[in-house]
Parts: sequence; structure tokens; C-alpha cells
Amino acid sequence: MATEPLYFTTPLFYVNAEPHLGHTYVTLVGDVLARFWRARGRTVLTLTGTDEHGDKIAQAAAAAGVEPKAHADRVSGLFRSTWEAVGFRYDHFIRTTDAYHVAFVRSVLADIHARGDIYFGSYRGLYCFGCERFYQERELVDGVCPDHRVVPTVIAEENYFFRMSAYQERLRATLEARPALIVPEGYRNEVLALLREPIGDLCISRPKSRLAWGIELPFDERYVTYVWFDALLNYVSALDHLGRMELWPAAHHLIGKDILKPHAVFWPTILMAAGLPLFQRLCVHGHWQMQQGKMSKSVGNVVRPLDMKARYGMDAFRYYLLREMAFGQDAEFSETALVQRLNGDLANGLGNLASRVLAMQQRYFAGVLRPLAPEAPDERLRAAFAEARRELDAHVADLAFHRALEALFRALDHANKYVVETAPFTLAKDEARLPRVGAILHELCEALRVTAQLVEPFLPETASRLAGLLGFPPVRLGELGLPWGTAFPAGHATRPPEPLFPRVEVVPE
Ligand code: MSP
Repeated sequence: MATEPLYFTTPLFYVNAEPHLGHTYVTLVGDVLARFWRARGRTVLTLTGTDEHGDKIAQAAAAAGVEPKAHADRVSGLFRSTWEAVGFRYDHFIRTTDAYHVAFVRSVLADIHARGDIYFGSYRGLYCFGCERFYQERELVDGVCPDHRVVPTVIAEENYFFRMSAYQERLRATLEARPALIVPEGYRNEVLALLREPIGDLCISRPKSRLAWGIELPFDERYVTYVWFDALLNYVSALDHLGRMELWPAAHHLIGKDILKPHAVFWPTILMAAGLPLFQRLCVHGHWQMQQGKMSKSVGNVVRPLDMKARYGMDAFRYYLLREMAFGQDAEFSETALVQRLNGDLANGLGNLASRVLAMQQRYFAGVLRPLAPEAPDERLRAAFAEARRELDAHVADLAFHRALEALFRALDHANKYVVETAPFTLAKDEARLPRVGAILHELCEALRVTAQLVEPFLPETASRLAGLLGFPPVRLGELGLPWGTAFPAGHATRPPEPLFPRVEVVPE
């Protein structure tokens, strides 16, 4: 079980908006999970990318006065350069306009058509362009799309349909049998509720006369496929392209609650029709709310990751996002709260500990580590970090990143208290007590080393700076779980302190 490979995916982002907070959050979660599991020896592949076909993109391109492909090239490039600039890693970036993806979608369509699960029919329905899907009357709230708050457009035309209803019962039974298929549980319950009503069939095409910007159906050149059928298949087409099909079905799809239905209903039934096993887990996060309501360009409250990095440093932004949001629930974004976390937890908690310890190391021992000694209070410090590691591992497995960080910062509090209680700065006034001072500081350097390792998935830049200050190149931090007291070879020296997190005094309005 614990050696299974892991395949993490983010949603493919529409190229009608530039990278903002929401895109950043889910991509960050993918980055954290990949770093975390790799450090624990697991094989990991991560995928992200852009969703480039459909009405929305065609409209955005027209508004910008360029061809859809040129528009998609620019915005897709912006996603890649932004992730690069903020240090998010991923193994592959897929674009739904990539030739291999287009060919894959066509072959799956041909296959499902040949098996009889795609049919031609006429349809009249309520369509939301924002969601790129038809709505059933009962899904609307006061007659408008609950997400975009617009009255859907009535569209009547002849189209191709995927016989989704044929798989409803199998999907329901699977979801009953596999409680961990959709997490957190509230979202699984939402989907089970959806499945109590008939889900109907899925319209999967658009006539080219209405929309040409899509993938042409292999069995009718007058039509292109509907966005979701195209976009969802990316999770498999990428693996096929990379020659990594052994990673299917190890997929953990990270998505926001806005796209739950396509991922929890359309996607598994498409997989069933294509004869493929279902993904491992659908991990659904909540939304970031802004104080002034929904984040939007017109309100001018769009949070751009590069602005946040420039203002506070990327690690402080990462910390805030991961510490503030309970995965699955909504959270409110506030720069005031971000600055409080930065000054409180990061500068006072972690930064202060590192600078005190490294400063004393310099002052008393020119940085050179002294031997450990068996003392009862020291054991409590070790135990606090061992406990933090256990808790952190369990919480990350549950996607409770806020709890994982809380556990680690509890141990850091403990370390700060240990400094006060053992008072090495007082002991050092008596020459005879210097061996004890050396032992205390060695304990604290171990605490900082373990912190660097445990914090790496969340705050990678801090981890490597901390490693450097401790006198290690980052790769030499050693294995996670290296016994306490064995990390520093004889004569090893730490470096003089440098502030890890300068405090921020002014909070922008
Ligand atoms: N293209 C589709 C997804 C296709 S997946 C095969 C799409 N794209 S999107 O650009 O709109 O991105 C949606 C995702 O961005 C959400 O599911 C969520 O992960 C993230 N977020 C966008 N806005 C968000 C917030 N305000 N808060 C948190 N994340 C949200 O849907």
C-alpha cells in the first residue's frame, strides 16, 4: 500500500483569465503533495496545464482581437512562466490543443461511439457559458446559475449525446463501496444526493456552425466535441503521451468545488464507457472568498501570485494559504491576516528561534557543534519533534495542511520555551557550564534541522535557507527520520544568523 505510486493532477485552467489566487492555491497543493511524498520515498508524477477550447476562450480571443490559438498560446505561457517564477514544480504541462491530446480524445470518442454509447439527437436546454454546460431547471437558484449568477441561455439544436444515464447505477454503487473516492466526505454526500435523481445523458458536441474552436468529432466533421469531454480526458492522454500508463488509476485529482459535478459524475462515467478503471481519489477544496465579495477583474480585487511574492516572499504567501484554509472548506483571503501569520508564526516563531540559536552558536563556540548530553528537558524537546512528525504525516495524508503546520509550529513553540527554560545565555556566564550550553544548542540545532526537513514541502525556500545556515548543502540534510544527534559530524559548524522572515509593519489597504 505505502509503496504505490502517486499521480497528482490540478484542474486544467481556462485561458480566459490570468493566473490568480484560486489557480495558485490548487497548484500549490499539488506542489506540496509532490514534495511531501517524494521525501518519503514514493514515486510521484504531477500534471497541470491549460484548457483551451470552447465558447469562453473563443469569446475572450475575439475580445482581444486575436485568433483563439494565439490567445491560448499567450495565456498558457503566462501560467507556465508564473509557476516557474513562484517555484511550483510539476512534471508535465498539458495543453488541450496539444496534437497528442487531440488525437487521444478523437480515438476515445470513436471507441465509445463504436460501442453505441454516443448517439445523435435533438436537444433544447438551459446553457451557462461560464460553466460551459447545460443546467437542469432544479439546479438553478432563483432562475440563475448558482456560480455565475446569470440567466442561462436557451439553446435548441441537434447534437451528439453520451449515454451517461447507463452508468448511473454503477457509479452510485461504486461510490457507496468506496467511501474515500471523493474527499472530504461532505462532497461525496453531495454527489450521492445528485445520483438519487436521474442524471440524464450528456450533450458532448457543438455544431461547428456555432462554435468552430474545438476538437472535430471523428465520426461527424460538422461537429466539435464539448469542452468537458475534451478537458477531462487530459488526465489519461498525458500519461499515454508520457509512456506512463502504469500510473493509471493512481490519480489523485485536486479540484475546486465549482467543478465537482463534471469530475464526480461526467468523468467516472466516461471512464466506465471507455473501459478504464476509476481514479484513486477526488480531492475537493473550497473557495477563497474576498472581503469585497467574489474576486473579479472589474472589482479590482484579483490576487496575483507574483504580487504576493514581491510583497511578502513566496514562502510567507504559501504558509498563509496552507495554514488559513482547511482543505474542503471556504476561507476568506485577507492581507492583514497574512501579515499577522508572517509576523507571528514565521518571524516570531521560526525566524526568531533560528536567529537566537545560531547567534549563540557563534558567540560561544564560533559556530562549532558541541556534544549532546543526557538531560531530561532535552528528551522533552526530542519527543515534541517526534510527535510533530507523526502528526504532520497523518494530517498531510488527510489533506489537512493547516493541521500539519499547526503541529510543526507547536513543536517550534516548545523549542522557544526550551530556550527560555534552559537559559543557555545565563549559563554561559559561568565557564564551567559551557559544556551544558553546547549540549543545549546542539539539541536546538537538531530541532532546526528536523524543522527544515519537515517544513520543506510547505516552505521550500525557507528549508533550503535553514539548511544553509545550519552549514549543510540542502541535499545533505540527510534522511527524514535520521536519529536525533547523528546529523552533525564532529567539528561541524553552523553559520552566523540571517533573518529568515523580516517582519512586515505596513499592511496595504
Ligand atoms: N477548465 C476547467 C477545469 C477543467 S479540468 C479537466 C476550469 N478551469 S478554471 O480556470 O476555471 O479553474 C477552476 C479551478 O481553479 C477551481 O476548480 C479551483 O481549483 C481553482 N479556483 C478558481 N477560483 C477559485 C477560488 N476563488 N478559490 C479557490 N480556488 C478556485 O474550471
